[in-house]
Amino acid sequence: MTARNDRTDIPERIDPALPKVELHLHLEGAAPPGFIRGLAKEKHIDIAGIFDDHGHYRYRDFPDFLKVYEAASTTLQTPEDFLRLTLAVLEQSARDGVIYSEVFLSPDFCGGGDLSAWREYLHAIEEAAQQAENTMGITLRGVVTCIRHFGPRKARAVARCAAETAGDFITGFGIAGNEAMGHPRDFTYAFDMAREAGLRLTAHAGEWGGPQSVRDALTHLRVERIGHGVRAIEDLALVDELAERGIVLEVCPGSNVALGLYPSFAAHPVARLRERGVGITLSTDDPPFFHTSNTREYEALARAFDWSEADFRAINTDAARAAFCDEPTRERLLKRLEA
Ligand code: ADE
Ligand code: ZN
Repeated sequence: MTARNDRTDIPERIDPALPKVELHLHLEGAAPPGFIRGLAKEKHIDIAGIFDDHGHYRYRDFPDFLKVYEAASTTLQTPEDFLRLTLAVLEQSARDGVIYSEVFLSPDFCGGGDLSAWREYLHAIEEAAQQAENTMGITLRGVVTCIRHFGPRKARAVARCAAETAGDFITGFGIAGNEAMGHPRDFTYAFDMAREAGLRLTAHAGEWGGPQSVRDALTHLRVERIGHGVRAIEDLALVDELAERGIVLEVCPGSNVALGLYPSFAAHPVARLRERGVGITLSTDDPPFFHTSNTREYEALARAFDWSEADFRAINTDAARAAFCDEPTRERLLKRLEA
């Protein structure tokens, strides 16, 4: 049973300082709108149309969200911009108790997608990550991510960037973007290249596509984690397969609710997936776009499902076990989660 306050209708608040492991965060998607407006002003870029009257990102639906996201990313033009962005994002995550963040890095959005400059951008991001680790105690690892609607050719070039920079910092490869475009088999070559370079693999699937999309990602991309994956719930045989195979889902409930996939947290399948034995982890995806934060997600889930601090601790331990990091880092994370 969940411990409760005197008010019987409100579960005990989840301590915002509860240590958290986040496995699904897009670096550009985590850019606060004020940060992007500041860059736009500096560089005389007119992107006023992507903000509402309150200064928040404005979009109508998922395809429009992707357009707004790409427009915001046009302001990120130099390695220095990425250094500042990485620091701003990690500061926010650390304030929310995040001790480890696996961040999707998209060479396509670095300075207009000139992939020959990828190492310079990566160097800047890594420098910011080191500063954040030293001053805030938060660890970042990068998952290089291709964009599905940019097509398989671009994805192969991005996989080459990933393979060439694979190591202690770049530990994974993934695919994001519009799940309605193309088929996972179009991206097999890119994922094979990344796997051969020793990278761990994840793919966005089962967000806008149904269970077959998840099956296709598993078959053709041979990933060990799925970004979202929540629509697996529409096929219980698949749910059981995910549980048996230990395929872990990077679930982002607030993102799914904000984009209209589910009408509320209470209607979200995360609790049903967990109850049926699937490894689930909790992340924020693109928090300023969805008016969310790690703390807000936890509070909304505690309210929707009566989840207690013990539930969140167990979920974060599972996340640390599923993280694409080296074993000494994992041991350190597990110790911090226990403390
Ligand atoms: N890129 C950033 N956020 C995304 C999402 N929720 N789905 C697919 N691609 C994305
Ligand atoms: Zn995502």
